[in-house]
Amino acid sequence: MFFHGVAEGPPDPVFGLGGAFQADVRPEKVSLFIGIYRDEELKATPMAALAQAKSQIQKDDLLADYLPMDGYPPFLQAVGALAFGEELWRGAGERIYAAQAVGGTGALRVGAEFLAQEVSRDFTVSHLTWPNHRQIFERAGCRVETHPYYDGQKGRLDFAAWVGALRKLPPKTVVILHTCCHNPTGCDPTLQHWEEISSLMLEKNLFPFFDFAYQGFGEGIEKDRLPIQIFLKAGHEMLVAYSCSKNFGLYSQRVGALFAVTSNPVEKSRVGSQVKRIIRALYSNPPAHGARMVAHVLTHSALAQEWRSELGRMQGRLSSMREALVQKLPEEYQFLRNLKGMFGCLNFSVEQVRRLKEQFGIYLLENGRLSLVGLNHKNMDRVVHALLTVGGS
Ligand SMILES: Cc1ncc(COP(=O)(O)O)c(C=O)c1O
Repeated sequence: MFFHGVAEGPPDPVFGLGGAFQADVRPEKVSLFIGIYRDEELKATPMAALAQAKSQIQKDDLLADYLPMDGYPPFLQAVGALAFGEELWRGAGERIYAAQAVGGTGALRVGAEFLAQEVSRDFTVSHLTWPNHRQIFERAGCRVETHPYYDGQKGRLDFAAWVGALRKLPPKTVVILHTCCHNPTGCDPTLQHWEEISSLMLEKNLFPFFDFAYQGFGEGIEKDRLPIQIFLKAGHEMLVAYSCSKNFGLYSQRVGALFAVTSNPVEKSRVGSQVKRIIRALYSNPPAHGARMVAHVLTHSALAQEWRSELGRMQGRLSSMREALVQKLPEEYQFLRNLKGMFGCLNFSVEQVRRLKEQFGIYLLENGRLSLVGLNHKNMDRVVHALLTVGGS
């Protein structure tokens, strides 16, 4: 008898709610909790360029060899240029180490293990943040504190409180930064804010670890990477965890990358050697299929163009849903208009979130996170009615 003492673990805040949603038999139920893109019919269809790439790479995919420990080189080159911008990638590439990762989550985990081993175990995340951050970093052996970031009453960034908290951190603390489309608040710093945070972190010797999971969903591919470019140009050493789940619609393929911006090619090589040891001991080497699809799209200009256009349309649908929602809601919801990406946080209590679910079949995360992907023209009025009934006014 080995397992009789195993206690039941708590359900995951996102996936756990998925089970309850599936089991709900009400046809009018609405999922406003999930971060998987849906079209106006609330269907998740593969992106056209990716579907084409899938059929075009079939022959390569039959090769059964292992990938290198740090992944498929053409994928890393293509995604590096996407994340940093062609020019910076070419200019700084000789000091940026890149490893393919098992989604953005895998990149965060491998990055955290590396930092715990080589830099610091002290991490800080924003309050609020993606709920998985804490457990990813804690399971990598890190201590995770939170810093203020969001003013829930006003529905906006509390920059003064954020800066004040960063000022007090001990040197070498790892600060998790959402590059764009902050999850869950949708509240992004301005470029001026990023410049200030970058200077402060250099002055205080704090380590930036960017989580870049939504490129293209904020203000477009080029603008969404500006925070990374600001930090790189300012001379930071840093990590970037990149996810291809959302912007390539490859959730189940687990495609991502970890980038380490170092100071020179020698350091890049040493950092890479340690990251590879971590990968080797965790899962040895990454899967090939999704990375080949992404590399194929990004290196074929017609496909790349098609992918960009489709991503732009996806972002456009989310913006138009946001605008339609805001127009039907009173003053206290107008903060939603300025948010970026898929999410926003309503200033609802756990009890109000529970009422939305039980009375109306409308599912939000417990922290009040609302995901625009579940909205369409058909369910909009029902959602508005439920929000006004439960939230007042
Ligand atoms: C902020 C943030 N970081 C990372 C991830 C991880 O994405 P992936 O599915 O690629 O592991 C997500 C996914 O929801 C996310 O919201």
